[in-house]
Amino acid sequence: MLSPEAEAIRDEALAGVAAASDVAALASVDRTFLGKDGAVGQILASIKDAPPEKRKQLGQEANALKQVIGGAIEERREALRAEALVAERASDGFDPTLPGAPLQRGSLHPVTQVTRELQGIFSSMGYAILDGPEVELDDYNFEALNIPADHPAREMYDTFWCKGDANLLLRTHTSPVQIRALETLEPPFRAIAPGRCFRNETVDASHEHTFHQMEGLVVGEGITVGHLIGAMKTFLREVFRRDLEIRLRPGFFPFVEPGFELDVRCPFCAEKTPRGCSVCKRTTWIELCPCGMVHPRVLAFGGVDAEKYTGFAFGLGLSRLVMLRFGIDDIRHLMGADLRFLEQF
Ligand code: DAH
Repeated sequence: MLSPEAEAIRDEALAGVAAASDVAALASVDRTFLGKDGAVGQILASIKDAPPEKRKQLGQEANALKQVIGGAIEERREALRAEALVAERASDGFDPTLPGAPLQRGSLHPVTQVTRELQGIFSSMGYAILDGPEVELDDYNFEALNIPADHPAREMYDTFWCKGDANLLLRTHTSPVQIRALETLEPPFRAIAPGRCFRNETVDASHEHTFHQMEGLVVGEGITVGHLIGAMKTFLREVFRRDLEIRLRPGFFPFVEPGFELDVRCPFCAEKTPRGCSVCKRTTWIELCPCGMVHPRVLAFGGVDAEKYTGFAFGLGLSRLVMLRFGIDDIRHLMGADLRFLEQF
C-alpha cells in the first residue's frame, strides 16, 4: 500500500512520462523522479532520519515507486524509438506496410538428396555410415587394395598427386575407406561410405574429374555371394520402389575375388519394350554397381583374419545413379554450379 504522498509522486511521474514527446523530455522525467536528488531519491535519503518503525514502510515505497516509474519510462522510450524509426523511414519514402522482398529458397543438390536417401535405406539395413579423407595415402588408395605400384589396374585410376609428397593423392574411389574400416571396426560389421572421388579424366558428358561413389563393405563369418545379391536386391527395391531383375557378370578388380559387374534391368523401359531405350543403350540392362567378395589379401592388409572371416564389397556409382534417377544426360551438370540447373531440384 502506498501512502497518499507516494501515490501523488507516482501519478505526477506517470503523467510526465505520458506527456514526454521525445527522448530528452523523458530523460528529464527520469532525473526529476529517479535521479539522486529526485523525489524517490529524497524518500530514500530520509530513511536514516526517520523513526525506526517508519523505515521499512519508506524503503518499500521507494522501491515500489522505482519499479513503476522506471517501467513506464522504459516502455515509453521503446515507443518513442519505434515512432522515430517510422518517421525517419517515411521521410525516405519507405513504406513499412509493403510486403518484403521474397527470400530465395535454396534446395538440396541432387547428389545430396540421393546420398541421404541411400543412407536412410542402408541404415535401416544395419549399415554404419563412414567417412574417409579425400586426400588419401597411396597405401590406402592402391597398395592395401592389392594394386601395387607396377600393376596395370593403376591405368584406370589416373589421379592428381600432391606436390612434395609422393604418397599423397586425391582418392580415385571410395574403396580406401574399406581398409580404414577393416582397421578400426571389429567384425562382424556392415558399413557404407559415400563421398567425392577424383580422376584425371578427359572431361566429357560421362566423365568428370570430380564425381561421387558410395562404397559398401560387409564382413563376418560365413558371408557369401548370396548375401551380396540379397543386399543389392533389397536396396534396389527401395531405390526404384519395385523389384527389378539383376544379373552378375564377371568383372575384374584387384581387391575382390570373385569380382562382378552388377547390372539391373532398365527401370525406364524394360517393362514396356523388349528393345530398350536410350538410357540403357537399347540393351534393357544398366551397369550399376561393381562388386565382389573381398580379396583375402585385402582383409589381411586391414588386419582381419582371412581364415575366419569373409566379406563382400560394392562400389556404387553415385553420380551415375543420380543421373539415372533424375534423367540428367551430362555428368558435368553435377559439379557445374549452374543455378539454372540446380534450381530444378
Ligand atoms: N572402386 C572401384 C572403382 O572405382 C569400384 C569397385 C569395384 C568397388 C568392386 C568395390 C568393388 O567395392 O567390390 O572402379
